Amino acid sequence: MNGDTEPKGTPTNPYLQRYVPPKIEGNFTGKHIITVDQFERKDLQILFDAAISIRKRIHHADRGLTELCAGKIMASLFFEASTRTDMSFQASMRRLGGEVIAASNGVQFSSVYKGENLADTVRAAGCYADVIVLRHPQLGSSYEAAYYLDKLNKRIKNPSVIISGGDGIGEHPTQALLDMFTIYDLKNRSLDNLTITLVGDLRNGRTVHSLAKLLAHYGPQNVSLSFVSPSTLQMPRAIIQMLNDKGMTIYETADLNEVLPHSDVIYWTRVQEERFEDAAAYEAIKDDFIMTPPVLARTKSDAILMHPLPRKNEMGTRDDHDILDEDPRAVYFEQMENGMFIRMALLAKVLRGVYV
Ligand code: NCD
Repeated sequence: MNGDTEPKGTPTNPYLQRYVPPKIEGNFTGKHIITVDQFERKDLQILFDAAISIRKRIHHADRGLTELCAGKIMASLFFEASTRTDMSFQASMRRLGGEVIAASNGVQFSSVYKGENLADTVRAAGCYADVIVLRHPQLGSSYEAAYYLDKLNKRIKNPSVIISGGDGIGEHPTQALLDMFTIYDLKNRSLDNLTITLVGDLRNGRTVHSLAKLLAHYGPQNVSLSFVSPSTLQMPRAIIQMLNDKGMTIYETADLNEVLPHSDVIYWTRVQEERFEDAAAYEAIKDDFIMTPPVLARTKSDAILMHPLPRKNEMGTRDDHDILDEDPRAVYFEQMENGMFIRMALLAKVLRGVYV
């Protein structure tokens, strides 16, 4: 696989065609959040402003926050491992005054254990909750969930929406929203004149798929994009095509040195071991890009180093996993906290459309 074609064995899902996610167009209320394709630049600005307002209100211990989702219930349906996405959504809902439900022993011991399919599991959650956060290993699973929820919503008294927490190697829209917010927030509240470099497993990493698409909104005159990866882990051609169609020219390379010294934002990623069918193929490239102090030293002094986390051995040294954390350029903890502010803003807007 040299990146000229889609990865071999890439699963397809008919629901990617069958379900068309609604555009946000300034109004989030009651809309499923499935892909970043639903967002325009003005929608991002609405969300950023809300996240900034929420952050201030948390800081000032504003009790009014718990009115924003009071009486609402979020169902957490995680068919794949998660720390940040799951916990930040739960924390967000509780901070907004809502409640969270999940199958008592995890989704694997729900009726999924008896062989129940995704559509029925999602519809069960839809009967009880106002919003469902779904993470599932299959590409397009959130499209499928939204398709069946729309049918269900016509039949029941209390409709619900789905928010994708990541669908296999597809997209991770809320991660990209928090990533964009972090760039905006830390780079003078603007995305102008930035050189942004995405590094690592760009083929299987869903966070970079969503992020690349959102960055295209800021246009070639404002954002210059470089993708650094081993040739076997390049960004899917369909996404490159989409970016080209928006006028973006992407610089793709396997040589980090070519772009690192000029980058304002460096977005580091984990090689997605769980997506490899062949353990030897993973072993062969897993150490291709490791961010260490000498590598970070080659970046601009005001660059920011991001990572969606979790990290394995692609960051730090063998003896010191945390060695970069004190560097002011390392912003992945700020990024992680921003996840909660953005998810609070999103839940409040989707569930009530309220001004925050
Ligand atoms: C990412 C994911 O699940 O795609 N994690 C996250 O949600 N912060 C990235 C990863 O697992 O590498």
